[in-house]
Amino acid sequence: MSEKHDIRPGQSIELLKELHILTRDGQLNQDSRRKLKQVNHLYQFIEPLLQEVLQERSAIRLVDHGAGKSYLGFILYDLFFKTRSDESRIYGIETRDELVQKSRELSARLNFPGMSFYNLSVAEATESVSLPETVDVVTALHACDTATDDAIAFGLKKKAQFLVLVPCCQAEVATALRRTKAAALARGPLAEIWRHSLHTREFGSHLTNVLRCLQLQAHGYQVSVTELVGWEHSMKNELIIARFKDLPRRHPAERLRELLGTLGLEELEGRFLTPE
Ligand SMILES: C[S@@+](CC[C@H](N)C(=O)[O-])C[C@H]1O[C@@H](n2cnc3c(N)ncnc32)[C@H](O)[C@@H]1O
Repeated sequence: MSEKHDIRPGQSIELLKELHILTRDGQLNQDSRRKLKQVNHLYQFIEPLLQEVLQERSAIRLVDHGAGKSYLGFILYDLFFKTRSDESRIYGIETRDELVQKSRELSARLNFPGMSFYNLSVAEATESVSLPETVDVVTALHACDTATDDAIAFGLKKKAQFLVLVPCCQAEVATALRRTKAAALARGPLAEIWRHSLHTREFGSHLTNVLRCLQLQAHGYQVSVTELVGWEHSMKNELIIARFKDLPRRHPAERLRELLGTLGLEELEGRFLTPE
């Protein structure tokens, strides 16, 4: 990769200009430079997974949830999908219609025919006939609040081989911790972990990702959790990669239920203990 520009070999200059990462005269826009570095970095994790999918299938179906301006989708397409002559396709799911329209226009202008964009919530996409019945890869990069949870539910329903998640802040678990705090403090010292409101938020956020991992494991996935380096400016830099391995499910499901019980959060079972 060029040190000067952080641009990968083969990366389309036209696309980077369209994404306003490069200025019209080809200079790197300093504000967007970080975005390029981030997405290129994430690409290093995703590219081997795409190769793995192709060992078993002739084409890849990748769904990007909470796509926003679809930086990730466009860069994945440019670096990996563009030169493929198969049926591989990237689907971008986004609730803001103006972003969906812009992504559609841009993919037409760049002649990226294997990209589709839908103005749907993640939950709606799970039921939509516009999306395939099964998919290979689900990505969700800072999809807001419970959109990451909906993306997990989507991936489980669509039997995704891989899920690549960089969660955003999720309020649901922290809200439940807050609501049950007095009872938990009366029960014992465990609730000291989230007595103070800043700790409630932070522990809630950490716990959410722990529960997500157990949920994925309870559906036979192997899960890895790492830090997405290069995202120093963001507090939200946890990368969860789940790979379907058909692993034994009983133990993680029990752990998940026990953990919710220990913390007095049985009300969240419906969110994380989703059936097959
Ligand atoms: C923080 S942005 C991230 C955008 C993009 N993934 C990125 O990293 O540049 C989150 C996006 O998710 C969209 N969004 C929020 N909730 C959603 C939902 N339930 N379904 C689909 N999109 C959602 C928002 O409109 C927003 O564009």
